[in-house]
Amino acid sequence: MFDRIKQLTEEISSLKAEMPEEVEQLRLRYLSKKGLVSVLFEEFRNVPAEHKKEIGQLLNHLKVSAQEKIENLKTSFSGEEKPADKSVDLSRPVDHMEPGTRHPLSIVRNEIIRIFGQIGYTVAEGPEIEDDWHNFSALNFAPEHPARDMQDTFFIARDPEILLRTHTSSVQIRTMETEKPPIRKIFPGRVFRNEAISARAHCIFHQVEGLYVDKNVSFTDLKQTLLYFAREMFGENTQIRLRPSFFPFTEPSGELDVSCNICGGKGCNICKYTGWVEILGCGMVDPAVLDNCGIDSKVYTGFAFGMGIERITLLKYQVKDLRLFFENDLRFLKQFTSTI
Ligand code: DAH
Repeated sequence: MFDRIKQLTEEISSLKAEMPEEVEQLRLRYLSKKGLVSVLFEEFRNVPAEHKKEIGQLLNHLKVSAQEKIENLKTSFSGEEKPADKSVDLSRPVDHMEPGTRHPLSIVRNEIIRIFGQIGYTVAEGPEIEDDWHNFSALNFAPEHPARDMQDTFFIARDPEILLRTHTSSVQIRTMETEKPPIRKIFPGRVFRNEAISARAHCIFHQVEGLYVDKNVSFTDLKQTLLYFAREMFGENTQIRLRPSFFPFTEPSGELDVSCNICGGKGCNICKYTGWVEILGCGMVDPAVLDNCGIDSKVYTGFAFGMGIERITLLKYQVKDLRLFFENDLRFLKQFTSTI
């Protein structure tokens, strides 16, 4: 058996064919049901157990090389059958194709979605043209509340009821109006404020809002969630610091600082030599806001946070001027590559 396998292996490796028909004859001779290789497989049954492993391997090898040989002989003819298309010059260099890259803001937004996705947050979106209720009133901004001045708003057609949303907190309201807890979502999107354009401010920018509402949600949950986020985004040695703040829709409210990832906390012009940079506002959802949305504030509590994507991107990539994000200068955009 051993010798016959060896002999057939040699024989097959030196096979030649002049015409396509010959290849088919060779295939029948070796690989058909009664072919020489197949017959050996039949006889394999009688090989004593102690040789089965060795002979089995040789047989498999023989079969594979026979199949390859026949395939090679076949393809050697298939090329000749079709005359080469002379009108195509295969030696010509191809046109250079530039694969696009993701915009840095998209890269960071997708990264934020990934990070929160890992702890169960799903994504939802809301409209950019909003009404007063969802952007202000339901979020506890009283009609003459000074907080309304904080955000100079673009109103549409002089109608004070319809505006370009000034923050993605409006999507919190839309979500709580239509869904009941538990709610664990993030809301990325574009927002608009009537600001003069400079290196640090723009009238269009992007935010991601987060909302978690359930029974027994506490400030501790908020703090741990933000610590997790900061370390995923800026590295595992990142420290966080919460400072008390005020927002009409959260009570208590806070602002989150992360240790400056540029100087590592030593002090630089990005962190204004404090070692800390602010990245988001947050707090426990004010009970009045839950009630405005038909969620019983005696049963449920929640936390919310909102961050600017530009700000995170500036820090992550050390970009000094946020106007670059909107100018579509390829020399800038090409520096960012990502598959997500
Ligand atoms: N909407 C706020 C802003 O645009 C950010 C914010 C602060 C969102 C606190 C929140 C929050 O959800 O709890 O400045």
